Amino acid sequence: MIGLLDRLARPLLRVLDPEDAHALVMRALPLAPVWPAPDPPALAVEAFGLKFPNPLGVAAGLDKDGLVFTPLLRLGFGFAEVGTVTPRPQPGNPRPRLFRLEADEAVINRLGFNNEGFDAVRRRLADRGAGIVGVNLGANKDARDRAADYVAGIEAFAGLASYCTINVSSPNTPGLRDLQQKSALDALLARVMETRERIAAGRRVPVLLKIAPDLALPDLDDVVGVARARRVDGMIVSNTTLARPKHLRDRAAAEEGGLSGRPLFALSTRMLAETFVRVDGAFPLIGVGGVDSGAAALAKIKAGATLVQLYTALVFRGLGLVGEIKRELVQLLRRDGFQNIAEAVGADAAACTAAPWPEQ
Ligand code: FNR
Repeated sequence: MIGLLDRLARPLLRVLDPEDAHALVMRALPLAPVWPAPDPPALAVEAFGLKFPNPLGVAAGLDKDGLVFTPLLRLGFGFAEVGTVTPRPQPGNPRPRLFRLEADEAVINRLGFNNEGFDAVRRRLADRGAGIVGVNLGANKDARDRAADYVAGIEAFAGLASYCTINVSSPNTPGLRDLQQKSALDALLARVMETRERIAAGRRVPVLLKIAPDLALPDLDDVVGVARARRVDGMIVSNTTLARPKHLRDRAAAEEGGLSGRPLFALSTRMLAETFVRVDGAFPLIGVGGVDSGAAALAKIKAGATLVQLYTALVFRGLGLVGEIKRELVQLLRRDGFQNIAEAVGADAAACTAAPWPEQ
């Protein structure tokens, strides 16, 4: 059923402005009549003390304001990440700020954390049902103390979210990525983790760190070193890239902003493997960037991901992709002789890091 709706809706959505199309999908999603089959045991995953029915999650940015995580979970996603949310509502950058690169199956966005703020999202999370919902935290553009915004995020969502993500990797808030620099990141994570401990009431909310794919390897050494020293629960690799691979064909490639989708796959997967070998089993990773098939999802897992997220491929392939990826993943695991996801995690990480650097 979802496949049919999808096929009917997609040509229409493509003629709309990308942001209007997104708004329309957000309104239609709760109406989608779907009854997903239960996931096979081979896809079940445990991470951060949570039990995921399958490893496939919705990446941050699709449901910035927490409006549709329930229908997304109903569609068959194993988890959803709401946000990025900032303490106060903010409008983001002027439109147009979202571009489809049809020829490259990619998107460029410079939205700039448009969102309704903590209070609105808190209200929506307060009466959520079952299912794993993370909240991706950011800082307001005009914040004087950005670290304080993340601390406020932990305070606001520790009791409501399955996990919280510290997003220091959006390219669309000037200076935000500087928080990935060693001493700034250490100071930030010290405050965040101290807050998490202070307010832990029975359960400590897992804290994940989401990084950019554009870090140089010595900087990645620092980031992983700090993340391990501050005992984060996991990392998400990666956000969108500022790079523009030479092979891009669409004219919109010249737009400013973060690039996602198929052309991000090679770089983000390499950075995932580089992160995996540095983390050395200290915590699990979420792999994201250009996942558009079961094979791509398995490649992320073999590069070191315990869980996988996607966003851009849904724009081009529709929501039926979720079931398709899961079916393919089950077959590919069996083909490769893995009983479950955990057995495959990192199987190719060493080989990935030994390969030539992906061409940009
Ligand atoms: C994003 N992404 C993103 N990430 C984040 O941490 N906070 C955010 O608010 C957003 N917003 C956002 C908007 C749009 C339109 C896109 C396309 C992406 C990044 C996203 O979560 C993911 O890391 C990248 O898009 C790479 O995955 P895909 O899209 O290639 O599967």
